[in-house]
Formats: sequence, C-alpha cells, structure tokens
Amino acid sequence: MEAFLDKAIKEINHLDPKPNVIVHTGDLTENGVLPDYELALEKINLFESKVIIAPGNHDERNYGQSLFKELIGPMDYEVHVDKAAFFIMNSPEPDRDAGRLGRRRQDFLDEKLKALPMGYLKIVVFHHHLVPVPHSGRETNVLEDAGDILEMVLKRNVNFVLMGHRHVGRVLRINNTILINSGTTSSVKTRGRFGHSYNIIDLFTDGSVKIVEKNMDENKEIEKAV
Ligand SMILES: [Fe+2]
Repeated sequence: MEAFLDKAIKEINHLDPKPNVIVHTGDLTENGVLPDYELALEKINLFESKVIIAPGNHDERNYGQSLFKELIGPMDYEVHVDKAAFFIMNSPEPDRDAGRLGRRRQDFLDEKLKALPMGYLKIVVFHHHLVPVPHSGRETNVLEDAGDILEMVLKRNVNFVLMGHRHVGRVLRINNTILINSGTTSSVKTRGRFGHSYNIIDLFTDGSVKIVEKNMDENKEIEKAV
C-alpha cells in the first residue's frame, strides 16, 4: 500500500531531530523480483537519514537474494553509527518462510559481540522473531535456533534486538536486552485493527529509552512500556 509508505517516508524525514539511522527489518519486496526491488530502492532513496536493511523471507523468493546483494548490499554485515554497533544477520533461506541463523552466524555474532569495546551500544537486527509475538496468529517461523541465539544475546548484554516478519509491534525487555518487533508500514497484511505503523526509538544520554509506535491509520502515537 504505497500511500502508507509515502506517508511514513514524509513523516520520518520531518522528525525533529532527524533520526541518526533508519532500520528496516526486512521484506522490502513481496516476491523478490526485479520490479519489486526497483520500486523499493526508489522509495528507500527518498529517506534523508542513513538506512540499514536486513533481508526478509520475501526478499529471498525467486532468487531474490541475488538482487538484494546487487541493489541493496550485503546480507550479513556490521556497521557502526557513532557509538552504536549494528549487526545485521540474514535469517531467511531462499524460498522458505522459516528462518535460522545457524552455527556459523551464531559463532560470528558471538565473537563480534565479545570483541566490541566497552561503551558501544550493541544492536542486533534480523527479520525473524526471537520469541513468539502475541496477536499475530498461529505461531510459525520463530527462529529455528531461537534458544541458542536468545541465550547468546542475553549473555552478551545486547541492548536491542530489532525484528520484523509478524506485522505486529511488540516490545519486550528481558534482563538488559530490549526485543523490538516492528509492525508493518505498508503491507496489506495487517492484523485486526493494528493498522500500519513504524517505531520511533529515542535513546537519551542518561541511558533511558523511549519507544513510540506511530500508527498511521489513526494518526496516533502509542508509547510502549520498556
Ligand atoms: Fe517476513
């Protein structure tokens, strides 16, 4: 639903202050085909802040992973924005809806988190959800190796895990880690009356966090308990 995406882009570009970074947690496309990617890229280029994108299961349909690498960028990568370290992990597998990181990615992520100097914010981003998301229908596609990843994330005191896939927003704190699922910004696949949304995450110098879900159907902001 292009109108919601255009509205989100306009609103996000007008946030004051502007976001340091915009994170898209995957499913840029419906079918992973070239026209889908070209339209997605056209829209992404309208953002006036840095954009970080994790691949979604829809993006890897129909050999879409080749287009993701060509047009969007790497599928597993680390990027630093000021003192925030983002670890983007490719959780989907081609032509499957299920997701997993697997031992190789788990070990890579664990080593990277362990080696990160003190003072860095640790943010892990992948498409599939690490724990079930309420009100999103029958549970399917939670990461196949969720248990091992959750244990590592908690052990390494990851600050945030950003996820998508279920089209329902959710914020859940476990120990020192905040798990954030985004809703859907422009898909037709909304749940109930949750509508179309995006999250605004504010981090303050005293360490506090404010997370607001912006619902675009009703033009309202819902502050999430952290
Ligand atoms: Fe998905």
